[in-house]
Parts: sequence; C-alpha cells; structure tokens
Amino acid sequence: MASVPVYYYSSVSNLTGRFAEHLAAQTGREVHNLADAAVRRREVEAPWVLLTPSYKAGNADEVTLPAPVKAFLRSPANRRRLVGIIGSGNRNFGEYYQAAARELAAASGRPVLFEFELSGTPEDVDACARILDELDAALAR
Ligand SMILES: Cc1cc2nc3c(=O)[nH]c(=O)nc-3n(C[C@H](O)[C@H](O)[C@H](O)COP(=O)(O)O)c2cc1C
Repeated sequence: MASVPVYYYSSVSNLTGRFAEHLAAQTGREVHNLADAAVRRREVEAPWVLLTPSYKAGNADEVTLPAPVKAFLRSPANRRRLVGIIGSGNRNFGEYYQAAARELAAASGRPVLFEFELSGTPEDVDACARILDELDAALAR
C-alpha cells in the first residue's frame, strides 16, 4: 500500500522539522522539506499531506501561510492532490492557534488531520502516524 508523503515547512527553530524527522525515522514515511528550493519546484503526481507551523503572532493582518508553503501551493496539481493538513502551533497564540492549518483547511476544503504544539511529544508522533496509516488505507480503497 502506498504511503502518502508529507511535505513540511519549518523555520530556523526547526520544531516542525523535528516532528517530521521523528515521523520519518519511526515509520519510514517520506517527508520532504519545502525549505529546499528543488522540493518547492516539484509538481506532485500522487496524494500528499502538508505539515505547516503558524506564524500569525496575534496579528490579523499577518500573512498566514509560510511563504515556501504558498509557493508550493501555487501549482494547480499540488493544490488538487493535497488531501490533508497537519499543524504545528503554540496554544499561547490563543484564537490564532493553528491559524495556518485551519485557514488553509477552510479555504481548500481539505481536513486538518492532526495538530500538535511545538515539536510534539512521542505520543503525538504515534497518533499522527496512525492517522496517516488510516489515510493510506482509505486512499487504497
Ligand atoms: C513570531 C511567531 C509567531 C507565531 N504565531 C503563531 C500563531 O499565530 N499560531 C500558532 O499556533 N503558533 C504560532 N507560533 C508558534 C509556532 O507555530 C510553533 O512554535 C511552531 O512549532 C514553529 O515551528 P518551526 O520551528 O518549525 O518554525 C508562532 C511563533 C513565532 C516565533
């Protein structure tokens, strides 16, 4: 059964990146870093999942999606084949918690599959891995 790849963006603090690397190391699932320009230029040919942090910082006017994520989503093929969204955030940001993942979900009609804070816990990695396995099974049907 095919494993849906995860494309992620992580800033210099690399919290989201640490979660992505744990997910890959524990499950063998492919993860791709959108900080890499060559990755950003790709057009996917199969379903994929986005993992993104939020940088709304309590400012309603702040751009919600990180620029590398926006760049990847400029491709119509990439937009069409996006099947779900995972968010990394911080509850200290209150009403803007997971703003990027949630606003993209509302705009695209794709579900938020999983949310965690910072780089997540080992339990978060396990829970997310299970959800992605269920997604693989659903797509195979
Ligand atoms: C300037 C700044 C703004 C942030 N704004 C939000 C926000 O609006 N909502 C949220 O849930 N988390 C927010 N966060 C928390 C980050 O999304 C969270 O720490 C994430 O794990 C960072 O991932 P990264 O280290 O991979 O970039 C913000 C963090 C910073 C530094």
